[in-house]
Amino acid sequence: MASNPGMTPDQIALIKATVPVLVQHGNTITTVFYRNMLAAHPELNTVFNTSDQVNGRQPRALAGALYAYASHIDDLGALSSAVELICNKHASLYIKADDYNIVGKYLLEAMGEVLGAALTPEIHDAWGAAYWQLANIMIGREKQLYEHAEGWTDWRDFKIVNKVKESEEITSFYLAPVDEKPLPAFKPGQYISIQTEVPTLKYPQARQYSLSDEPKPDYYRISVKRELGLNSAAASAATNPGYISNVLHDTRNIGDTIKVSHPYGDFFLSPADSETGNPIVLISAGVGVTPLTSMLNTLVSKSLESRKLHFIHGARSEGLRAFKKHISELSKQHPSIQTTFFTSHPSEGEKEGVDYDHAGRVDLSKLKDQDLFLDDAKTDYYICGPGMFMTDIESALKAKGVGADRIKMELFGTGGVPH
Ligand SMILES: Cc1cc2nc3c(=O)[nH]c(=O)nc-3n(C[C@H](O)[C@H](O)[C@H](O)COP(=O)(O)OP(=O)(O)OC[C@H]3O[C@@H](n4cnc5c(N)ncnc54)[C@H](O)[C@@H]3O)c2cc1C
Ligand code: HEM
Repeated sequence: MASNPGMTPDQIALIKATVPVLVQHGNTITTVFYRNMLAAHPELNTVFNTSDQVNGRQPRALAGALYAYASHIDDLGALSSAVELICNKHASLYIKADDYNIVGKYLLEAMGEVLGAALTPEIHDAWGAAYWQLANIMIGREKQLYEHAEGWTDWRDFKIVNKVKESEEITSFYLAPVDEKPLPAFKPGQYISIQTEVPTLKYPQARQYSLSDEPKPDYYRISVKRELGLNSAAASAATNPGYISNVLHDTRNIGDTIKVSHPYGDFFLSPADSETGNPIVLISAGVGVTPLTSMLNTLVSKSLESRKLHFIHGARSEGLRAFKKHISELSKQHPSIQTTFFTSHPSEGEKEGVDYDHAGRVDLSKLKDQDLFLDDAKTDYYICGPGMFMTDIESALKAKGVGADRIKMELFGTGGVPH
């Protein structure tokens, strides 16, 4: 990223000086910001994830981003991967350059509302300059992403052409473009956003879903877990099942149309892993299996017979595990593909060593070092699952000497992987 010609050295110093203020008040500022902005622009309720507003995840994610930005204002390169993640998410939601005017206005106003007289005119101006410096970086990156989309720069109508139950709680949707034009390839691991009406909200909502099959010219496949809300820490969650996953499971059927974005995302099989025979370990839990199944299917379709690949998956029970038959069959057909299935809450009759390999959650200490290909420094590790699951696996791999650059993770949520 370029340095910051738009800001004076004094302004940079002022921004750094406000880092402790952001630690203390960042979340209040972003909460006030969203409240005021969505009240003045109710049309943006369609753009933002209503549940992430209610549960506070999006205000926390924005506060975290502003804190990281202020802390690294003199070292913007440190923010590249965070910016890449956000810009891909923005592009998948078709955020436009003009939208940054609205966000900038309400963000600075929220700072004034929360900080009062402490927001001196100098600090206000420094944050105004800082906001636009970051906004311009993001607008620039998003422009590039839209330019690479070969004309697909807004929501596109897709028809559900097949709906297949993959487990007790995961169902796949096969989506074909209504215009029947060939689909662009994506990088295995990437996601699409889908947008559809939510009757209880009376406006549409968008969510991201990883593409769960290899790239095909005529359809995309997503595999959606029904979110019952029972596992949420929030007391009210049991009465708040997820909006879109339940709408999709219950009311979107073959023949129905939904809106779909171009594929985006910064979590994907690296070109080196695609093209060469580097060993790969794919580690997932629950519905985190989806992007890794796309990677597996793509690698198999390239018939890279000699590549060492280990697919490790954790599920609560066999009934809740999606794609097991498919993955096991691939492993039988391709001896270089190993599988290990962990089951944390086996159903009655499910036996260790028969229906699954190990009881309990995914635990790398139950595997031999050679089965994690630790002897090969080119091995890459792709992880997808709940936040704490990923940080645990990441720590276990690092403890075994794997460098951070060889560990890639995708969080099915907002705010990045917890550290
Ligand atoms: C990059 C990426 C890839 C993804 N890939 C997949 C995938 O392949 N498959 C998949 O199934 N999902 C995937 N997701 C997750 C998906 O985008 C949705 O977040 C998920 O389907 C839940 O959406 P929802 O609308 O059903 O739930 P939401 O309405 O967004 O609710 C989310 C959670 O918040 C709780 N909640 C809602 N309202 C309240 C409230 N008022 N109070 C307290 N709690 C509340 C809900 O109970 C639920 O547990 C991915 C996400 C990302 C970011
Ligand atoms: C400099 C300005 C901005 C910053 C720093 C910023 C930051 C962020 C961050 C950190 C996330 C969460 C990413 C993730 O972890 O997945 C996010 C998501 C999002 N942003 Fe922005 N953003 C900015 C501008 C905008 C603008 C202008 C819009 C459009 C009005 C917008 C709309 C969204 C939406 C809709 C999401 C997804 C929300 C969700 O899933 O809950 N952002 N942004």
